Amino acid sequence: ASTTELDISALEPGQAIKAEFRKQPVFVRYLTDAEIAEANAVDPGSLRDAQTLAERTQAGHEHILVVMGVCTHLGCVPLGAAEGEVKGEYGGYFCPCHGSHYDTAARIRKGPAPTNLEVPEYTFTSDTTIVIG
Ligand code: FES
Repeated sequence: ASTTELDISALEPGQAIKAEFRKQPVFVRYLTDAEIAEANAVDPGSLRDAQTLAERTQAGHEHILVVMGVCTHLGCVPLGAAEGEVKGEYGGYFCPCHGSHYDTAARIRKGPAPTNLEVPEYTFTSDTTIVIG
């Protein structure tokens, strides 16, 4: 199986980058402290797809959120990873195809998508390098 190696050393808090994994977009976001606090302030039991931010990130790297850039409704590429793109009403990602809003942990909060943006398998091979797949 193919893997994708990403150097995230240039990523700053509040920024996200788009990459590609097995021909699909993947978003890597460096969460700000405010984005982390916002995600952790939500009762996971109130969510359509109940997950905590900690369950969606890796221990020791809780500020790095890696998700597939594929809306779980019908597969459009959500906005929010590039500078100036709309992040939706919950500050994470927004799918313009039918209006799905994802929060700062990329969890579905509003709109038709049934589940959170998928977190792929990945490992940190250094503090600034991740290998997806
Ligand atoms: Fe994203 Fe429908 S494909 S909301």
